[in-house]
Amino acid sequence: MLVSAKEMLTKAKAEKYAVGQFNINNLEWTKAILQTAQELNSPVILGVSEGAGKYMCGYTTIVGMVNGMINELGITVPVALHLDHGSYEGAKKCIEAGFSSVMFDGSHYPIEENISKTKELVSICNEKGLSLEAEVGSIGGEEDGVIGGGEVADPEECKMIADLGVTMLAAGIGNIHGKYPENWAGLSFETLDAIQQLTGDMPLVLHGGTGIPADMIKKAISLGVSKINVNTECQLAFAEATRKYIEDGKDLVGKGFDPRKLLADGCAAIKATVKEKMELFGSVNKA
Ligand code: 13P
Repeated sequence: MLVSAKEMLTKAKAEKYAVGQFNINNLEWTKAILQTAQELNSPVILGVSEGAGKYMCGYTTIVGMVNGMINELGITVPVALHLDHGSYEGAKKCIEAGFSSVMFDGSHYPIEENISKTKELVSICNEKGLSLEAEVGSIGGEEDGVIGGGEVADPEECKMIADLGVTMLAAGIGNIHGKYPENWAGLSFETLDAIQQLTGDMPLVLHGGTGIPADMIKKAISLGVSKINVNTECQLAFAEATRKYIEDGKDLVGKGFDPRKLLADGCAAIKATVKEKMELFGSVNKA
């Protein structure tokens, strides 16, 4: 059964580790992540962006697939199915479809509008027992080939959003989605510390987990980060292993073209990446 992310993140914050949010793209992705979480006895959050939601034939298809897999694979660790960077409308659709957690990313709105929209969703999510993630200070990343630097959130604005009663808060601290450029300035721990001091027990979320060095991840966790999002790193691992399989000519041997064989090395690479992250984040045996 899907659960809200509230309990797993409250525990993570109190015990100073982080739960990974791994974004899913298809059945193979979902299966690899769920199996790894179960093997490591770790809680896990499956992230779905609106684009991936469309690709996978809509939110109800995803809810059906994930619930079916939890059942058929005998998954007993806590699993949250979470909308990643949702619009206001997207969040409502996911709530209706049976997601157990949603993110409303109002970071591009003026703060007053971010507050009013977040507030409405807080009451809907509370009523249904779902967790809600809000965002202040947008997370940069690659758009049309240009890598934008991540914004640094205003800690006072973070407090205003946290006080609305959201479950967890994503705050920009110089992090970006995708690969980090060579001249990246690193995470702003000063900002993170200021946000933590103002938001107290609120679990903080670190987006753009791909490529952040291990020592920075550990420091971020020590300063209140209890959810870390990883997407690109699994995609790179999958692509590399799949390319190697084909470059080695394995698809031309016997029934190597069978998708169950063709995608197997890529799936193993996703599992290895998820395992490495769960170990680094400290969520192993915390189910
Ligand atoms: P990466 O793709 O950089 O790992 O970021 C994932 C993320 O933050 C999803 O919201």
